[in-house]
Amino acid sequence: MSIGLIGGTGLNRLEGLEVLASHAVDTPYGRPSMAIEEGVLSGRKLFFLHRHGGSGGPIPPHLVNYRANLWALREMGVERIFAANAVGAISPSMMPGKLIIPHQLIDYTWGREHSFDDGSSGSLQHVDFTHPYDEELRGEIIRAADDAGVAYIDGAVMGVVQGPRLETAAEVKRFFQDGCDLLGMTGMPEAALSRELEIPYAAVCMVVNAAAGINDAPISMDAIRATLLSETALFVDLLEAFLKQ
Ligand code: HPA
Repeated sequence: MSIGLIGGTGLNRLEGLEVLASHAVDTPYGRPSMAIEEGVLSGRKLFFLHRHGGSGGPIPPHLVNYRANLWALREMGVERIFAANAVGAISPSMMPGKLIIPHQLIDYTWGREHSFDDGSSGSLQHVDFTHPYDEELRGEIIRAADDAGVAYIDGAVMGVVQGPRLETAAEVKRFFQDGCDLLGMTGMPEAALSRELEIPYAAVCMVVNAAAGINDAPISMDAIRATLLSETALFVDLLEAFLKQ
């Protein structure tokens, strides 16, 4: 089955990917974040798209053309999507060092093009989104983490915020009360658009900081970048094990 990998912060390129072709796809929704790289990693073909792409610098989370990204991956024939998200942790059990495989999300984003049904498609679907991530794909990712001996947590609620700023301490308290374990900026509308296209989708989260107000330390981009390096190495170990399955 053809696999699409959507990389986020820290995964602007995929170490070890032997690139076979680069596809500059145009879609009815505009251009995706970058030309999609078709390549081989761990003996398996995959299609790689960095969601923050952009030739003129990283595209911020609220300006990513999620519809074009998903549409372009479908054009490539992708049948499953494995997405990476850098996140901040609210839950004390989810501090950096383990990958988190969320099972639920709460969408706090606004003003993003979040559906292919924009009144011009001639269709209107109310997709079932009870379980936003594909359970079978999550199961395969979890098996791969076990095989690779990569530390992970199975199940978390990701709150998806608008960004690009980080939160206030009071906002984080509210997200905690809502039941969020993690906060990220790019999980939506990506997951819902994938559901609209009927492409099974699952996410793996790399925790890069404790969310605002969780501890006394200010959140610094330098600290985030340092943590991201070790989290990305964990992520690549997991991805390679997944591709070898
Ligand atoms: N909040 C929201 N998104 C994030 C964070 C955070 O603390 N860290 C990385 N992405």
